[in-house]
Amino acid sequence: MSSVLSRAVGLLPGRGPRAIDSAAILSALPVPVVVLDADNRFRQVNHAAEQFLGISASGLAQMRLNDLVPADSPLYLLIEQVRQTEGTVSNHDLSLESPRLVKTGITVLGSAMAEEPGAVVLVLQDASAARSLDRQLAFRGAARSVSGMAAILAHEVKNPLSGIRGAAQLLEASVDEADRELTVLIRDEADRIRALVDRMEAFSEKPIARTAVNVHRVLEHVRRLAQSGFAETVRFQENYDPSLPPVWGNRDQLVQVILNLVKNAAEAILTAGVAHPEIVLTTGFQHGMRIAVPGTSERVDLPLYVGVRDNGPGIPEDIRPHLFEPFVTSKASGSGLGLSLVAKIVGDHGGLIEVDSRPGRTEFRLHLPVVSEKDPA
Ligand SMILES: Nc1ncnc2c1ncn2[C@@H]1O[C@H](COP(=O)(O)OP(=O)(O)OP(=O)(O)O)[C@@H](O)[C@H]1O
Ligand SMILES: [Mg+2]
Repeated sequence: MSSVLSRAVGLLPGRGPRAIDSAAILSALPVPVVVLDADNRFRQVNHAAEQFLGISASGLAQMRLNDLVPADSPLYLLIEQVRQTEGTVSNHDLSLESPRLVKTGITVLGSAMAEEPGAVVLVLQDASAARSLDRQLAFRGAARSVSGMAAILAHEVKNPLSGIRGAAQLLEASVDEADRELTVLIRDEADRIRALVDRMEAFSEKPIARTAVNVHRVLEHVRRLAQSGFAETVRFQENYDPSLPPVWGNRDQLVQVILNLVKNAAEAILTAGVAHPEIVLTTGFQHGMRIAVPGTSERVDLPLYVGVRDNGPGIPEDIRPHLFEPFVTSKASGSGLGLSLVAKIVGDHGGLIEVDSRPGRTEFRLHLPVVSEKDPA
């Protein structure tokens, strides 16, 4: 037990009939806590830590920290500092890996235990969920500026564009073979600009119509589209939770979200020429995924998740900080609107999107609300 916790427990005996067992408090804590002994074996873990690491307490009892965290991780430095200073040390943005999950962006607080020389209490916090909510609010701002721009473009560009296209088409009939190539080029490029403006119009601020949507149907629809078109050579794997409740959302927009993610995944693996191109679609239900809405006392429940994972080269370093902003692309013919539209739609649904990417493994994960009793049927 950390000194802080045992002190908190120590306050109680005089007040009630009996002190609450400190192990019971530890197990009720919604924050993952692990206790390591002097040899970095797991001495004790709470329920939140089992869930967080995806390994049961009895499994962890057989393991040492080295089985989960590579030897060069700064986590060992933190633990050494705790042992040397016998104080509390914190570290941000650490990574933890187990056979079942990879966690990045973890904040770890380490504390020494006076009663147990060499033992260290670690409190783990997944900062990525909260951080991605922050980021997503920023993307929504960016998306809003696109919606304003789309309105201007629609007005100022689309009309003259159809004039240009019409004129090129008229010329096409009267010019010779060599010049016809040029008129066709004008027509095709005008079509390309029109398609871009049409895509930007998807950012408009219209309220969305929501119903109970079966996410698996959405995923299957996109998988079929992909396999008969742009992802013909990609192997798809489905890890679906069959008991998943419906999501409260707009079916067409959710198709658009998944389609953009699957398209990016396919483009990444096929461009890189990966030997066994694979996309894994996952769904699941995660209890207790509640997120505070920044600046309010409101909390949203997002128990349903959908993952789209690929074994491509990963998101280019220079793109990462701006990933969800409009017009950010590494592709010669990309518009860079796919992910900003995804972020906007997910935001409009009251959801959240997270990314975890490294060479060989990129996963986008959506967290969405389910149909609640107060939603109209
Ligand atoms: N699964 C992925 N693997 C690697 N890089 C990715 C992946 N998904 C997105 N990216 C990177 O993020 C960039 C932005 O993606 P986004 O979908 O917004 O635009 P785009 O795909 O380039 O263009 P558009 O979707 O408008 O055709 C991509 O250009 C690519 O560099
Ligand atoms: Mg894209």
